[in-house]
Amino acid sequence: MSVSVDSLLILLGAFSTSKELAFTIDAFVPVYTAVAIAIVYGVYKEDSQRKPSSPPSPPSLPSSIISPPSSPSSAPPPLKKYPPSINLSGTYKLFKNQNYQDFLACQGVGWALRKAADSASTTHTLTHDVDTGRFVLDVKGLISSQVEYRIYGESVRTQIKDKTFTDTVTYLPDGLGIRIHKQNLKDKYDIIVERRLKGDEIEMKQRVEFKDGREGKEAVQIFKRV
Ligand SMILES: *[C@@H]1O[C@H](CO)[C@@H](O)[C@H](O)[C@H]1NC(C)=O
Repeated sequence: MSVSVDSLLILLGAFSTSKELAFTIDAFVPVYTAVAIAIVYGVYKEDSQRKPSSPPSPPSLPSSIISPPSSPSSAPPPLKKYPPSINLSGTYKLFKNQNYQDFLACQGVGWALRKAADSASTTHTLTHDVDTGRFVLDVKGLISSQVEYRIYGESVRTQIKDKTFTDTVTYLPDGLGIRIHKQNLKDKYDIIVERRLKGDEIEMKQRVEFKDGREGKEAVQIFKRV
């Protein structure tokens, strides 16, 4: 049940303009008020938890004695690996879904919602600052959301109802897109969201990875630049 609700909200975040979903959304309105509070709390909590976890490099051996090629404890975080050429900025409208219902079903989303989600429309606006790694994802639809990330930067808590995700953003290994790794630590599953720029299209792949070995599914969605 909890997985189902969670999945529902994920899909609502991605697909949001369907009258068939409206009745469901009404039920979530009070929930989102709580979510807003929880997000603020979550970010605060994360900040306070973060400080002890990222201490300056331990005052161990002088660097004149040890100068290994890779010294993880003293190396700065890899914040500057920005591919110089990619720019995902733009507004993209959903054009096609592949395997989306299976992707939802494996998360426990019911039939009616899977159908509705598969035919719903959505628009994603990406603001990608190549120089700083700032990446803002704006989803417009029945439920609109906006999250600001920093590529290779701090993780961001995102919350959907009572589920908390810890999102981290990196470039894809080939540098042609962006990966958002959403971890649900409590419920022990991840969602990997990869957006890859292909001409005037964004190919968005989402896959569920269950920590208990259950088989996850992958959906592919094609967005076209508007
Ligand atoms: C990235 O693309 C956006 C939208 O086309 C544009 O406004 C922006 O200047 C571009 N940034 C760079 C660094 O080229």
